[in-house]
Amino acid sequence: AVFFSSISSPLFFLLQIHLALLLQSCYSLLSSFLIAGTHFITVTTLISAGNIGEDGILSCTFEPDIKLSGIVIQWRKEGVTGSVHEFKEGKDDLSGQDETFRGRTAVFADQVIVGNASLRLKNVKLADAGTYQCYISTSKGRGNADLEYKTGAFSMPEVNVDYNASSESLRCEAPRWFPQPTVVWASQVDQGANFSEVSNTSFELNSENVTMKVVSVLYNVTINNTYSCMIENGIAKATGDIKVTDSEIKRRSHLQLLNSKASPCASSFLVIGWVLLPLSPCLMLK
Ligand SMILES: *[C@@H]1O[C@H](CO)[C@@H](O)[C@H](O)[C@H]1NC(C)=O
Ligand SMILES: *[C@@H]1O[C@H](CO)[C@@H](O)[C@H](O)[C@H]1NC(C)=O
Ligand SMILES: *[C@@H]1O[C@H](CO)[C@@H](O)[C@H](O)[C@H]1NC(C)=O
Ligand SMILES: *[C@@H]1O[C@H](CO)[C@@H](O)[C@H](O)[C@H]1NC(C)=O
Ligand SMILES: *[C@@H]1O[C@H](CO)[C@@H](O)[C@H](O)[C@H]1NC(C)=O
Ligand SMILES: *[C@@H]1O[C@H](CO)[C@@H](O)[C@H](O)[C@H]1NC(C)=O
Ligand SMILES: *[C@@H]1O[C@H](CO)[C@@H](O)[C@H](O)[C@H]1NC(C)=O
Repeated sequence: AVFFSSISSPLFFLLQIHLALLLQSCYSLLSSFLIAGTHFITVTTLISAGNIGEDGILSCTFEPDIKLSGIVIQWRKEGVTGSVHEFKEGKDDLSGQDETFRGRTAVFADQVIVGNASLRLKNVKLADAGTYQCYISTSKGRGNADLEYKTGAFSMPEVNVDYNASSESLRCEAPRWFPQPTVVWASQVDQGANFSEVSNTSFELNSENVTMKVVSVLYNVTINNTYSCMIENGIAKATGDIKVTDSEIKRRSHLQLLNSKASPCASSFLVIGWVLLPLSPCLMLK
């Protein structure tokens, strides 16, 4: 009994935290569950971002069903009369598709059976941004979820030594961004320093007149220091680092999409049930 209580109380405590977080962050999901009862299935979307000119994915998953022929997937977009994409009886039905999406959409047909209703969108355009709805109907029930799709342009920066400048300088270049990002420099040695007075950033429209090339020059840099060029807009954040020493130049860069978290807790909620829910998806929201 002693053994049992010492184990169960922290577990219970965790469970309570968990429930509290669930109630707090998944309130809308929870309520739709309770109201709709057994004929409601969980559909989960991710906030997604598309890079103009490239192919994108609007991410949507649902509680799987082994009866493929009974699965209906409907993608719609707010403000658009026709559908974006429809899939039923194991194949596409594009009879009601809106012209703006003609020839540009596909679901991953072999993934539908495992509950993946994600939509592939070819050649993303700025105007593809908006609110989409992923509606699913299976033999178990129906459900839908909204997805906020952002579009813009983002690309990896490259930082190099600028041998043309009059003082020791670094040049950070990224080919495609939209909307116009902010560019901030930082250095490992002078942490927190403001480099805005010793740098010069310019934006140059690319030929399609939407995206822009970003160039930023940082003057008066010193050796043995690591400098970072950070580019950020509402959609993505990218960093290029450079370290110049007597013998070598080291570089690295990375790019991260902002706000691409799952809609609260929905996936684990359904599949695993209450007690075994991992804590992480909920805590991540905090
Ligand atoms: C759905 O399937 C596609 C193609 O295999 C994959 O790229 C995507 O990540 C899947 N989405 C989810 C949410 O599993
Ligand atoms: C440096 O100058 C050369 C010659 O003037 C020019 O061709 C090159 O594009 C310049 N490089 C940069 C990074 O500005
Ligand atoms: C850096 O200084 C400039 C003016 O010199 C100011 O506009 C900017 O907000 C400062 N940036 C930060 C991060 O403090
Ligand atoms: C770089 O340093 C030199 C000498 O210290 C100074 O004259 C020059 O103004 C500096 N350049 C910038 C852009 O701050
Ligand atoms: C910044 O760059 C632009 C274009 O490259 C140039 O015209 C301008 O004089 C530069 N400004 C400073 C303060 O260096
Ligand atoms: C981009 O804008 C320029 C000047 O405004 C114009 O001459 C050019 O035709 C435009 N290009 C495209 C692809 O719209
Ligand atoms: C840079 O670091 C190397 C090795 O740590 C050292 O030998 C060199 O003197 C340093 N150079 C400067 C200018 O600080």
